Amino acid sequence: MTLCTSITGYLQELFVGIIIICLVGLSHIQLNLDSEEMCACIQCMAGSKEDPWFAEHYKNRVPKLLSRQNSELHPNTSKWWQRLQGGPSKKNYSAVVETLFSLFPDEEHYSDAGPHRCRTCAVVGNSGNLEGSHYGHLIDAHDFVIRMNKAPTAGFEKDVGSKTTHRAIYPESAVDMDNSTHLVLVPFKILDLEWLISVFTTKHITRTYTVVKSTIQVAKDKVMILHPEFMRYVYEIWLQKQGKYPSTGFMMLVFSLHICDQVNVFGFGASKDGNWNHYFDKRYYHFLNTGVHRGSAEYNITLKLHQKNKIQMYKGW
Ligand code: C5P
Repeated sequence: MTLCTSITGYLQELFVGIIIICLVGLSHIQLNLDSEEMCACIQCMAGSKEDPWFAEHYKNRVPKLLSRQNSELHPNTSKWWQRLQGGPSKKNYSAVVETLFSLFPDEEHYSDAGPHRCRTCAVVGNSGNLEGSHYGHLIDAHDFVIRMNKAPTAGFEKDVGSKTTHRAIYPESAVDMDNSTHLVLVPFKILDLEWLISVFTTKHITRTYTVVKSTIQVAKDKVMILHPEFMRYVYEIWLQKQGKYPSTGFMMLVFSLHICDQVNVFGFGASKDGNWNHYFDKRYYHFLNTGVHRGSAEYNITLKLHQKNKIQMYKGW
């Protein structure tokens, strides 16, 4: 009888213990679900705050894409942006923004992070290290494939893939795009915004500091504009003001950290023999490393992100 009572007591305690453990476990899961840190991938970009270096750099609140609502620039951004343009512009930024969003989607893009999303991004730079890499299929398997400037795919599919969901350009690097590709304008100057308007209206802008295309093929509803605040954030926080301004590729890399849950990076840095060239062009481009951009500094940050397991970097060699 005594034995029976003590066994029943023991089982009761065990039962209560299991219930408590289950409740604590459930509340923990609930806590994770409630935080911005969850996504449906094995590892989530937004949940990378445990690394102090990453947490110091990754600022979730910086606006990524321009809209009417977020168009006002911080005075420091205004100054930085004007310096980039070689001084104050006589153009009325607010009026240009107003015209922009009477033409293009004025939306809050990519605010859909959450426990059910696992969005993968391939950021494809133009480095010659893609040559012979056979990364094509791997690149095309991503949800978003982000390319830059004039980067061709035709004839290079084996190494670079054929899918392009986003193409980051500025007037001087613009090319035609198919109807499913987002044009992400990287505005280095107000004239770049005006050029975008002109492309879809009067087509009168044919020159900036050089001859530019007055028209390109692109779907109007796919147009997006990188926010000047975001450009300054990449330059000051990530790049610590190295070089004159970040390369388009590096801006897209940081952009993808903010819009994707998993990021894989291809075609960045020098080729195996130390050459800063393009996969579609054998010439050496000094500006990618020692000109306006600090390619090796950008590369080292990219490498650090890889070492810290925030991204996967595919070097091609
Ligand atoms: O040269 P371009 O700017 O068109 O290349 C796109 C991007 O690819 C660059 O902005 C840079 O970030 C990256 N790139 C690189 N190493 C190269 C060539 C390009 O990291 N050798």
